[in-house]
Amino acid sequence: MTSGQSSTYRIVAIPGDGVGPEVVAAGRRVLDAIGDSEGFRIDWTEVAAGGNAIDRFGVAIRPDDVALCGAADAVLLGAVGGPKWDDPKAAVRPEQALFALRGGLGLYANLRPVTVHPALVGSSPLRPELLDGVDLLMVRELTGGIYFGERAEASGPPGQRSASDSLPYTEAEVRRIVRLAFELARGRRKAVTQVDKANVLATSRLWRLVTDEVAHEFPDVSLEHRLVDSTAMLLVTRPADFDVVVTENLFGDILSDEASVLAGSLGMLPSASLGERQTAHGTFGLYEPIHGSAPDIAGQDIANPIGTILSTAMLLRWSLGLPEAALAVERAVSSALDDGLRTRDLMPEHAALAAHLTPLGTVAMAGAITDRLGTRAGAGAR
Ligand code: IPM
Ligand code: MG
Repeated sequence: MTSGQSSTYRIVAIPGDGVGPEVVAAGRRVLDAIGDSEGFRIDWTEVAAGGNAIDRFGVAIRPDDVALCGAADAVLLGAVGGPKWDDPKAAVRPEQALFALRGGLGLYANLRPVTVHPALVGSSPLRPELLDGVDLLMVRELTGGIYFGERAEASGPPGQRSASDSLPYTEAEVRRIVRLAFELARGRRKAVTQVDKANVLATSRLWRLVTDEVAHEFPDVSLEHRLVDSTAMLLVTRPADFDVVVTENLFGDILSDEASVLAGSLGMLPSASLGERQTAHGTFGLYEPIHGSAPDIAGQDIANPIGTILSTAMLLRWSLGLPEAALAVERAVSSALDDGLRTRDLMPEHAALAAHLTPLGTVAMAGAITDRLGTRAGAGAR
């Protein structure tokens, strides 16, 4: 906590495209309110990234703006992309902003916690009994592997075209993310699942080797190696069995979207991308909901702001060193859900089930959560 002194934290907001500006506004509102009640201030700077930055500056994010982000205590990002900039062959694409931030700021660890709020069990397509006890943390390597390996675009005459993507990993890249996964498991149920395709890929066999070495440093944490295909199946048949799942960039991308189905809506889930840089308050990081820019619902005040608001809780915990404030945000979200407040994505299809719930827009949901920041009741999600 702030021990009675008034602190100021520097946070860069990147609204981005689509629903990004709406959800980032919701996140800022909650952070400013928790600052008011806990006695700290946030000094906000706004940076353009994604399609809107391409329109204004011709690049997905300007290098100076990446540097500005890197000098802050934390970054809160909405989402980037949209149909206007969707040509996969374009030289300049909105996603390049994400890679410039992740790679440029060394944010190698992407944490995606997945929990199921009891009130939302009915919103998931999975049977309720499968969701009982789901509380997993996906730890995705974010600055290596096939995302950052060499790429050769398709070339050659029609009928003989070829392309390639390479998937490199160094021992050091694997070791630091696996070690973080073990450390995080220590504060949870002490079980790590390392996911790969070791029956095919050389890089996966390196992951196994290094993970076994790291495991020796953590005798109190259990480890299982699992192939990515069987993990994909188990995530929807026995999701409660997983505690910490650690894996490479591409597998983590795919499995985390799959795991998000457990929570009832993609709109619920937060993420943190962390590197090695320590600030005076904690670990520098970038926080964003795991949903995309959802251009089809942009500007209509219907996007679910909870993924972003829960990302601000991760920001408070990791980058500002304020775990109590983080819990207060998580409890406020739980309390709003317990009270039957729902954005559109969380509304059950059946009228009978929806009858006792209150539909809210983005702004009203953020307001309801802000109003509940003082509540100490409710089951805080992690
Ligand atoms: C994610 C997204 C990005 C990724 C896309 C937008 C490039 O899917 O953050 O999971 O693949 O990393
Ligand atoms: Mg993804």
